[in-house]
Amino acid sequence: MTDQALEAVQLTKSYTIDSRRIPVLDRVDLIVPAGTFVVIEGKSGSGKSTLLSLLSGLDRPDSGRIILAGTDITTFSEDQLAPFRNRTIGYVFQSFHLVPSLTALENIMFPAELCRDPMARAKALELLTRVDLAGRSTNFPHQLSGGEKQRVAICRALVNSPQILFADEPTGNLDSGNGDIILQLLLELRRERGATLVLATHSREISDRADQVVWLADGRIAPGPEEAGS
Ligand SMILES: Nc1ncnc2c1ncn2[C@@H]1O[C@H](COP(=O)(O)OP(=O)(O)OP(=O)(O)O)[C@@H](O)[C@H]1O
Ligand SMILES: [Mg+2]
Repeated sequence: MTDQALEAVQLTKSYTIDSRRIPVLDRVDLIVPAGTFVVIEGKSGSGKSTLLSLLSGLDRPDSGRIILAGTDITTFSEDQLAPFRNRTIGYVFQSFHLVPSLTALENIMFPAELCRDPMARAKALELLTRVDLAGRSTNFPHQLSGGEKQRVAICRALVNSPQILFADEPTGNLDSGNGDIILQLLLELRRERGATLVLATHSREISDRADQVVWLADGRIAPGPEEAGS
């Protein structure tokens, strides 16, 4: 493990719809020291989810490099990326992405089973209990509320105790009590595992606890809302 959990160099990304180009990120640089807690803020549509998906290797930049846990993932093939991601990072999607055919418990166990962790079930049950959902373990995603799905998605991202956790608006659907439980779980991962947290959020309670808050606006990163012009 290097001192840097994550380094992004000159990341540029645009989407194309019907030959119309939508620029989103423009030469973004970011350095995240290991064990720190970084919050990405910015208006809706500013590119927070896009940036998280590039940093975590879910999507590819048009240009630029991403060094994750000392490894340049931009040189990886898809076949190399998948096991690296499962081993190294946890990801909480803004829209959860639970597997519809698996129960809450099975969704959480899944990444641990991929690693052949014999404790997969026990760890998943413990996490479900922590987020007050032990009574929903056999529910399928369509039988869960939005906030319950969000909590299951967070448990799934935590089950392998990842070195780096990315979370996209992890408390967006939660009341303050449940939001606080999630924040405590994330901080515990950092304390016990020295994990790095990279979160996109609008929550003041969360950004107040961060070591570093970066602002995205007009495709660039700025240290604060004033500099970003937001
Ligand atoms: N797959 C895609 N194809 C085309 N355009 C996209 C795609 N994904 C995102 N965009 C566009 O890129 C821009 C950035 O989107 P992104 O989801 O990263 O924003 P965000 O900051 O996460 O917003 P929010 O706070 O609403 O979640 C938006 O203008 C969006 O319309
Ligand atoms: Mg988003």
